[in-house]
Amino acid sequence: MAAGHNHHVLDLCLFLTTAMVLLQNTMAYPLSTNSRWIVNEGGQRVKLACVNWPSHLQPVVAEGLSQQPVTEIANRIVAMKFNCVRLTWPLELAINDTLANSVTVRQSFQSLGLNDDIDGIQRKNPNFIDLPLIEALKTVVNVLGQKGVMVILDNHLTVPGWCCSAGDGNGFFGDRFFDPTAWINGWKKMAGIFNGVSNVIGMSLRNELRGRKQNVNDWYTYMQQGAEAIHSVNPNVLVIMSGLGFDTDLSFVQNRPVSLSFAGKLVFELHWYSWYGGIDWGAGNACGKFRDKVKWKAGFLLDKGFPLFVSEFGIDQTTTSDKEKSYIDCFLGWMAETDVDWALWALTGSYYLRDGARRADEHFGALTTDWILARNPYFLARLPFRARSALRGK
Ligand SMILES: *[C@@H]1O[C@H](CO)[C@@H](O)[C@H](O)[C@H]1NC(C)=O
Repeated sequence: MAAGHNHHVLDLCLFLTTAMVLLQNTMAYPLSTNSRWIVNEGGQRVKLACVNWPSHLQPVVAEGLSQQPVTEIANRIVAMKFNCVRLTWPLELAINDTLANSVTVRQSFQSLGLNDDIDGIQRKNPNFIDLPLIEALKTVVNVLGQKGVMVILDNHLTVPGWCCSAGDGNGFFGDRFFDPTAWINGWKKMAGIFNGVSNVIGMSLRNELRGRKQNVNDWYTYMQQGAEAIHSVNPNVLVIMSGLGFDTDLSFVQNRPVSLSFAGKLVFELHWYSWYGGIDWGAGNACGKFRDKVKWKAGFLLDKGFPLFVSEFGIDQTTTSDKEKSYIDCFLGWMAETDVDWALWALTGSYYLRDGARRADEHFGALTTDWILARNPYFLARLPFRARSALRGK
């Protein structure tokens, strides 16, 4: 081997070592909060640029596995520049041992008559087909970890299925399918299962609190208990709290702080679609109205020194209506300015089974129906992936 070549090898080694150190620095888990910023172990800001990957529908398997190999999907997530996944799961997976540990992926699809998906999973992800459902979830998390993708585990609802409506019994503590004690026990279980899985950096306590029973007092009682339960089992993760009214309203936190026994882990989440908040996006002053509203509903939290994670937003990426255009122009502007952390709805692709429809296309999805290509690269290019502000106050 020529000397010159050796030099190149040495240079390459140095380069690789440096690159790995850099990678390790940005991936210096666990994360915590410093005022309104989410930071890594070195105190550097980590901006969450996530995509929602649903795993809470009836089969209780991450969507898309009958379409593409899980490693290909993970590669696609990285190629689209997302650094994180908000992975949704139903509470039943945590509180029903039979469902979690005895029902396999194959059996789950069989019970729903989804034989095409069984064939698809056998071809694309053969190692998944006979895994118990909880192992399937763990495997998805691990594959994402191998690709350096962070994961936020989101308890989306209790009963597996499409979400959410005000009267579906999953909306608020005390609803038919939402027993606070079962929920807390389920979280202890999940927090334990994923304790030590370093790319699981956050836990989103409950998606879109809503419905007739919702009230501020119970919100504090149970959200605080839930956060304490998670932290007692897994002190590494961020605990992420949804507001009321389908996660559009955190205004009550303005005058009554959340009280926890630990610091540096609390993040709030907000959802906002074009049909949220009663804003007429066809009207000329819509953006101003939105900005006023979002400020007192949740934006104020940034000034109070809490990170705000906009964990659901999005548009029909196939045929965007004029109103959606108006909404998304305004919303992306606000997200870029405020430099919030975020998660797009959704990664899907298509769903195995949504509301009775097989291989249901997700018009809001980042990927095409077959989970191969970006559905709308022009839209993805507009998302605020990079941090705008340097981390201050250190
Ligand atoms: C637990 O899950 C299994 C499998 O889906 C189901 O048959 C059973 O009814 C569930 N148990 C409860 C208590 O919901």
